[in-house]
Amino acid sequence: MSFAWPTGFERVLDEEWTRADLDTLALKYDTVENHGWYRNLEPTLDQLAAHLRDGMTLIDYSGGTGILLDRLLHRIPAVQAGYLLVDSSPKFLRLALEKLGREPRVGFRLIHFLKAEKRLQLLDEVLPAPMIGRFDALASTNAIHLYYDLDDTLRSWHRALRSGGRAFVQSGNIRNPDAAPGDWIIDATVEQIDAVARDLVRERPAYAAFRAGVDDAARMREYDKLREKFFLPVRPLAYYVDQFRAAGFGVVDVTTRSIQAEVADWYQFLAAYHEGVLGWAGGSRRIDGAEPAEETVTLRLALMRDALDRIFGGKPSFQASWTYLTCERP
Ligand SMILES: C[S@@+](CC[C@H](N)C(=O)[O-])C[C@H]1O[C@@H](n2cnc3c(N)ncnc32)[C@H](O)[C@@H]1O
Repeated sequence: MSFAWPTGFERVLDEEWTRADLDTLALKYDTVENHGWYRNLEPTLDQLAAHLRDGMTLIDYSGGTGILLDRLLHRIPAVQAGYLLVDSSPKFLRLALEKLGREPRVGFRLIHFLKAEKRLQLLDEVLPAPMIGRFDALASTNAIHLYYDLDDTLRSWHRALRSGGRAFVQSGNIRNPDAAPGDWIIDATVEQIDAVARDLVRERPAYAAFRAGVDDAARMREYDKLREKFFLPVRPLAYYVDQFRAAGFGVVDVTTRSIQAEVADWYQFLAAYHEGVLGWAGGSRRIDGAEPAEETVTLRLALMRDALDRIFGGKPSFQASWTYLTCERP
């Protein structure tokens, strides 16, 4: 028997984002699917494959462009479960709809930004009332470090799950005391790129055009703030464990893995966010009032690549630590 959503449940609501063109940045993001470091999803897929059975429902919270669900459908094709992909980005969700919209087991929900209240909707605000408290599982991959209202978010997950329902969460941006010595926190490479790029600009004539701006301390502080908007300060594992417990979850398991990342892949990923990584090299409209010229961006990207080579001593790959948390609604 195939999976059936509850009567009256619409897999896709008639909303504006469903009719938009595919977005370039979302398409670029989606290429991480081919990156070695996206093996970070494998332990989560193992956990979901072990947990899910026919008739169950899973929320892929912050499911983005649908990489996890696409892999899960290939991993356990015969399981007749329902998968609800929930995300706050209409552009990412649009691409996920393109990839998975024809699969009847997959539904989609956009978390809207409520302008008057200056906040994102909570999970239970985008679920049909009869389904709240009924979900068997929730996954959140590569995203929990981005939630600015973690407490409210976790409490809404708790309300969405049934008793015994599990949240499978993972991120490479958690400071974990059990990480292997020498393993990177993946976003911490961005701060290093910034520091090394400043040295390279002072040392190498090729980057002389960026020198004047580097010595302007007030301007550089503005770019530090911009970088922290793109890549948030990293929080420790204990903070997440405490937040899950405070929201009513039991923490069933915490596992740490070392994931190999190719420097070339990581460069390709960061290149899409070059304004946040090295905006000071050539300037950004948000801070200097003008967009950099195309050739300036090309030079900025060369600087980013050189900085990565110096950081990793020219090696082709580095190890990064990923943290996996399994939590249960009692
Ligand atoms: C790095 S992507 C990860 C996407 C996907 N889970 C994966 O592993 O490929 C982070 C995702 O979190 C979403 N996101 C960012 N801030 C969020 C928030 N406050 N609440 C819910 N989702 C958020 C983004 O729209 C994006 O899809």
